[in-house]
Amino acid sequence: MDNLIPAPVRSSGGGADDNGGDGSGAFLLDGATTLTAGPGTGSTERWLRTTLGAAFGLPLAQGTPADEPANTIDLRIDATLEREGYRLSVAPGSGVRLTGGSAAGVFWGAQTLRQLLGPDAFRRAPVRPGARRAVPRTEIEDGPRFGWRGLMLDVARHFMPKDGVLRMLDLLAAHKLNVFHFHLTDDQGWRIEIKRHPRLTETGAWRARTKYGHRASELWDETPHGGFYTQDDIREIVAYAAERHIRVVPEIDIPGHSQAAISAYPELGNTDVIDTSALSVWDTWGVNPNVLAPTDNTLRFFEGVFEELLDLFPADVSPFIHIGGDECPKDQWKASPTAQARMAEAGLADEDELQSWFIRHFDRWLTARGRRSIGWDEILEGGLAEGAAVTSWRGYAGGIAAAEDGHDVVMCPEQQVYLDHRQDGGADEPMPIGFVRTLEDVYRFEPVPPGLSDEAAGHIMGTQGNAWSEVMQNRDRVDYQVFPRLAALAEVAWSRLPAPDERDFADFERRMNTHYARLDALGVAFRPPAGPLPWQRRPGILGRPIEGPPPTV
Ligand code: ACM
Repeated sequence: MDNLIPAPVRSSGGGADDNGGDGSGAFLLDGATTLTAGPGTGSTERWLRTTLGAAFGLPLAQGTPADEPANTIDLRIDATLEREGYRLSVAPGSGVRLTGGSAAGVFWGAQTLRQLLGPDAFRRAPVRPGARRAVPRTEIEDGPRFGWRGLMLDVARHFMPKDGVLRMLDLLAAHKLNVFHFHLTDDQGWRIEIKRHPRLTETGAWRARTKYGHRASELWDETPHGGFYTQDDIREIVAYAAERHIRVVPEIDIPGHSQAAISAYPELGNTDVIDTSALSVWDTWGVNPNVLAPTDNTLRFFEGVFEELLDLFPADVSPFIHIGGDECPKDQWKASPTAQARMAEAGLADEDELQSWFIRHFDRWLTARGRRSIGWDEILEGGLAEGAAVTSWRGYAGGIAAAEDGHDVVMCPEQQVYLDHRQDGGADEPMPIGFVRTLEDVYRFEPVPPGLSDEAAGHIMGTQGNAWSEVMQNRDRVDYQVFPRLAALAEVAWSRLPAPDERDFADFERRMNTHYARLDALGVAFRPPAGPLPWQRRPGILGRPIEGPPPTV
């Protein structure tokens, strides 16, 4: 349809001109409109009633077979459709017919219906009571290109309170994104309550001060920073995601990026190399030398963490558990007699193999419990664990190697889809870090590089944007970095776009004009096309720009 984002596979019918015309050929949503929900479509029924019902002040009462079809929204599952696909038909006399290949397909179709109802459908209360709510005559057949369409959010460097996470899940759903990669631990904070290891949050969730800007900045924010999700908060987030057909991929980053855990339990670190009891939760940025010790005690400790994690993130919502594996400097292991003894005992040739040994341990542990492990592409070094999938971040190469080797891959190279990187080369970008990657650059990102065999290409599960939060101190900063580029990524992941050079970015921009009105109605503090508003700038705060065009594939 005219202004849909992401663009559907096939659509015909009215378009914007039908909406608000004389109503002929359109469906009019009003106080008498009913919802008829077939078996298995309850999540969409609830979502439509609470979302559209609130936006327009309508009851959307439960329908019965005796209802006049012309004024009913009818939800069904038809298992002959592809699993996340849907068919949406709006025609005079037959109302709204929404059929999905599964409960998820019906839900994605409902997202399309909301877009067809105009930006007011994205508000939480009616702003034009009594106004006509017309849906144009429509026939849409749609379904996603990829099964993994995601966003990784780093809540460790800066904590995002629970309400912000729930809101982000709503924003993912509005873009038909179905994976929330939840980066829960890092050097600068541990954000999930673990009952058997309470100091992880008592100590590990707080830091006294925070570097303001890139690590080379001389500024500090002296406000103590922190926070964590209780186990009930996590259960609520998981249930909220599940209701929206979003999978949650919790990440516990090991064996690097672990200073917060070590500050809480110093015995987890390399105590024969440094005095780990002197470490506190890290207050600045960069790659940290203080990594976990490869001891039995560390393995048992994290098995305990993962036991609680598996309980909180059930297999149907979280088949994948992310175990990090990125940026683990090997200096302490080289200097540690304990680590060297472990290598000798296990017959490991070097410290890369020791990291691999560590990751393999948790890959097997998770596999034995019916889950799949996934890690950053450094887990390829020293040998990839048998069942592990890979988030390829340092470029395409790790993902290509893993896919050619038969492993599943999520393509999220920092050169293209790191959403914390600046979106414009101008001086007004707040705390500018990384490459300039504009909305158009993200729109032209291709998750499947050419030259892969068909079999390897079949291992590319999809893509996700990654939003690291060193310079995103609060929700508005996250909004600014993530939007509107996440809308472009959503179209890359969902729609069947042509090759990067052939993509019609002008048409995407035209559709974005409507989409900005939706984001405004949702209260998203996105980066305006003309650049940051005055309060979105951070004059004088040092960033770390990197030069270079997006790589061609
Ligand atoms: C990463 O950006 N360190 C995965």
